[in-house]
Amino acid sequence: MDMRALVVDPGAPGALRLGTAPEPRPTPGQLVLDVRHISLNRGEVVFAGRRPAGTVHGYDAAGIVVRAAADGTGPAVGARVAAFGEGAWARRMAVDTASGAEVPDEVGLADAAALPMAGVTALRTLRSRDILGRRVLITGAAGGVGRYAVQLAALGGAHVVASVGSPARAAGLAGLGAHEVVVGLKGVDRPVDLVLDNVGGPQLAAAWELLAPGGGVVNIGWASEEPAVFAPYSLFFVGPSKTMSTFGDVHEVGPDLATLLGFLAAGRLSPEVDWRGSWEQVADAARALLDRRIAGKAVLDVGPGAAD
Ligand SMILES: NC(=O)c1ccc[n+]([C@@H]2O[C@H](COP(=O)([O-])OP(=O)(O)OC[C@H]3O[C@@H](n4cnc5c(N)ncnc54)[C@H](OP(=O)(O)O)[C@@H]3O)[C@@H](O)[C@H]2O)c1
Repeated sequence: MDMRALVVDPGAPGALRLGTAPEPRPTPGQLVLDVRHISLNRGEVVFAGRRPAGTVHGYDAAGIVVRAAADGTGPAVGARVAAFGEGAWARRMAVDTASGAEVPDEVGLADAAALPMAGVTALRTLRSRDILGRRVLITGAAGGVGRYAVQLAALGGAHVVASVGSPARAAGLAGLGAHEVVVGLKGVDRPVDLVLDNVGGPQLAAAWELLAPGGGVVNIGWASEEPAVFAPYSLFFVGPSKTMSTFGDVHEVGPDLATLLGFLAAGRLSPEVDWRGSWEQVADAARALLDRRIAGKAVLDVGPGAAD
């Protein structure tokens, strides 16, 4: 029997359509989630059309376990779980137990669904670095990854410089822990020790110039979709090495997801859900995300459907 799912359709707005797909077939290490909420990430929306037609898209979900993993790992039937994995945007999702985490009672499932990709990316890029008392610049700070990164960097004791695309997009960032909010990079008047770059393009090249000796840029994303041009010798530096690195480690996110859910439960992290609606409105949500009208996350409610 088929279930309802958001599937790739190159002819649909945003290349996504609410259609049907076969029920997931879990491996022994996977549980099956009755999905209640999903969230969108820019990369998934931008790249939806590149996946084969009919693919169940998306990675972030939260719901109720309807089938525990056959290998005995992970939560039992009935547990509330947030998860990261392929095929999340469907009524049911099979996901590795190592990539899910139980949601504390204090946390709503819709807020939990906002966390996986953006929250774990922010957590992992910051936790592996020495940020206590350091100047950390976050570009694309108004977005999904950015708003979590601002909060987690502040929690970790950094001096947080948040960069946004326009004055209006600065709203709320000081309240999340940003010590400085700048439009573009022009207002950054002192070197920074770490850059979390969500924007790429010319801003990435400019951010490199702002690094203090020994500092590093982590290129998380490339929302600008513009090339970055480095002038000859601009990467040459006499003194402690400056570094530029990639991030793409979303393996076994369960324990980190549990950490983030714990922060939410304790009121130390805000979920920053700025857009909420039915998954039938996926085209509207995707358009708003691409147009930079969402401050944080878009969460869609997965309602009951005829083809269940
Ligand atoms: N490496 C990984 O594993 C990983 C994980 C998650 C996300 N990503 C990538 O990281 C980036 C951020 O993801 P996200 O989900 O946080 O996206 P998002 O919510 O859409 O935020 C992107 C931010 O980028 C800024 N931006 C600057 N120039 C832009 C332009 N020309 N077009 C669009 N946005 C522009 C926007 O700033 P304003 O709002 O101030 O205008 C926006 O807030 C994306 O490229 C995504 O694909 C990578």
